[in-house]
Amino acid sequence: MSSPTTQPETPEILVNASSPVFSALRDIITDDPHSWDTAWTQNITPWESGDIQPPLREVTQSGEVAFPTRGRAFVPGCGSGHDARYIASALGLDTLAIDISPTAVRNATKNIPDGVNARIEVQDFFSFSVPETEKFDLIYDYTSVDPLLQPKTGVDIKARFFVAIPPSRRGEWGAQMNSLIKRGGYLITLVYPIVPETDVGPPWFVRPEHYYGPLGDGWEKVVDRVPTESQPTHVGRERLVVWRKL
Ligand SMILES: C[S@@+](CC[C@H](N)C(=O)[O-])C[C@H]1O[C@@H](n2cnc3c(N)ncnc32)[C@H](O)[C@@H]1O
Repeated sequence: MSSPTTQPETPEILVNASSPVFSALRDIITDDPHSWDTAWTQNITPWESGDIQPPLREVTQSGEVAFPTRGRAFVPGCGSGHDARYIASALGLDTLAIDISPTAVRNATKNIPDGVNARIEVQDFFSFSVPETEKFDLIYDYTSVDPLLQPKTGVDIKARFFVAIPPSRRGEWGAQMNSLIKRGGYLITLVYPIVPETDVGPPWFVRPEHYYGPLGDGWEKVVDRVPTESQPTHVGRERLVVWRKL
């Protein structure tokens, strides 16, 4: 007789880096971020949860951070736009979400109901800029796909935002965050996957401290904890970290 399980079972295909879907994805994603659109057009999107990330809901509802309820929010690499929709609705922020994939942007646009103050645009995060007067009060960074991060060659990372982008671009990621956020603004990062460090084999790992260098000085960490609720594939493998720009 099998023992009772306390957590929903995770489909093997979503956690196993050698599963066909990740293999297909690694065949598609190159160093050119525009290659993401091919994954979207071919419907090879294993990161899709179809819903809001539970830790985002948790941190906004808990009241542990006095997030702004007026101003502007930014969601880079928004995919299907569920988290952007949630930020606009729950916090009432004027939300801009971007994705480099026109297909993702078309999907996300359909997921924003009338009356929700969120816009979705095709943009490359690394060349995106705003004037001083349009800097953001809140930025949400979560674009992870863990097994994808172990490329076949073992020499480069092909995907994601902080953990999606090639490590060589992490400095640019930090510079962009610093240039896009307002003083006093909040950056919500879901740090994932927190898995044992390995020299070989998937998945690549990340730690909250990996963000220190790219972000640089001038940030206060206001939350750093394991979320109470994670989507099934992420249970025990992610950490919620919220930073405030000083
Ligand atoms: C792994 S998906 C995650 C999507 C979404 N955040 C989610 O959690 O479901 C990464 C997303 O980042 C987008 N992306 C990759 N590089 C980008 C870039 N340079 N600028 C904007 N979006 C990018 C991809 O098109 C893709 O939709």
